[in-house]
Amino acid sequence: MRIAISTGGGDAPGLNAVIRAAVLSAVDRGWHVLGIRKGYAGLLGDDDVVPLGRDDVRGIGHLGGTILRTTNRGDPFAYPVKRPDGSIVEVDRSDQLIENARNLGINAVIAIGGDGSLRIAERLGQKGLRVVGVPKTIDNDVGGTVTTFGFDTAVTTAMEAIDKLHTTAESHDRVIVMEVMGRHAGFIALHAGLAGAAHVILIPEIPYDIEVVCEAIMARERRGRHFDVVVVAEGAMPKGGQESIMGASLPGQDRRVGGIGERVAHEIQQRTGKECRSIVLGHLQRGGMPTGYDRLLATRFGGAAVEAVEAGKWGHMVALRSPHIVTIPIGDALREPRRVDPNHDIVRTARRTGISFGD
Ligand code: F6P
Repeated sequence: MRIAISTGGGDAPGLNAVIRAAVLSAVDRGWHVLGIRKGYAGLLGDDDVVPLGRDDVRGIGHLGGTILRTTNRGDPFAYPVKRPDGSIVEVDRSDQLIENARNLGINAVIAIGGDGSLRIAERLGQKGLRVVGVPKTIDNDVGGTVTTFGFDTAVTTAMEAIDKLHTTAESHDRVIVMEVMGRHAGFIALHAGLAGAAHVILIPEIPYDIEVVCEAIMARERRGRHFDVVVVAEGAMPKGGQESIMGASLPGQDRRVGGIGERVAHEIQQRTGKECRSIVLGHLQRGGMPTGYDRLLATRFGGAAVEAVEAGKWGHMVALRSPHIVTIPIGDALREPRRVDPNHDIVRTARRTGISFGD
């Protein structure tokens, strides 16, 4: 048996723990493992395919990033190719990828990725590649699984940042707005905001009214609380408005969501007269060592993915259905992206503890 592993899309803390567990579980069965570098670029001649043995995964489980590297511009069905005049066109190279995999004697691929990468894995599966998926994202927006690895680390990083913002905001009587990642989902903002006791949390699932946000800030002011920490998910939007989009994306890349934090800070300052600052936590949320929770979940996913290969669960992905890891068709997981339920107990508890969602 010869399997290959690929990591695609944005990195997430825990990827190396998946790779390590999958390699060790496969080697334990007497299988050979290849690592496809940089998404699928290693199978398309733009990077390498490297053998992965015990020595290659030694001491990597606690490290952030991915030893295989990754890209969010490597969809083999719309692969960016540079033309002689320097312009870029997107070309379908999926047939070539499947042929190259066959030539390398690859019997199955473990594809570790978020919704975009899992969709690619599903399409490759439909074209005959034997694929098992492993869901990954700090955004926690993949359906079918209770959670994904990377999310807990991102929440911890954001929560620690909120703790730090409290002390400086309070010292200066300021409003500090922190924008966090999550694309179209508000999980990071909600979980970190509640854990870090933010005063306002704005998420895409609950569009806000800036007047209501300012009223919450002024109500605290009247109670003698002269500072505020506002956590804004990058995909948050005002009632009747749109997500804020940053500049143009590179060819082959999704449009980038963000910029809303600065806008909210500006509007609060204008309306309340309070001094405001904004920060974008950005890629700090994706970097660094995975938390114990993420390492364990990632390790379980890696082991379960090899079991799924052994069982011939092609087109399936591993998922957490607490307390067990199960396999589900990738298509089922992708049918409905995970979003924050505005009636979830976390939202209700946040409201009861005095947090405003600006609605
Ligand atoms: O999906 C993970 C994520 O970190 C999002 O939260 C964020 O919008 C996006 O990726 C950022 O991507 P990039 O690394 O291309 O800036």
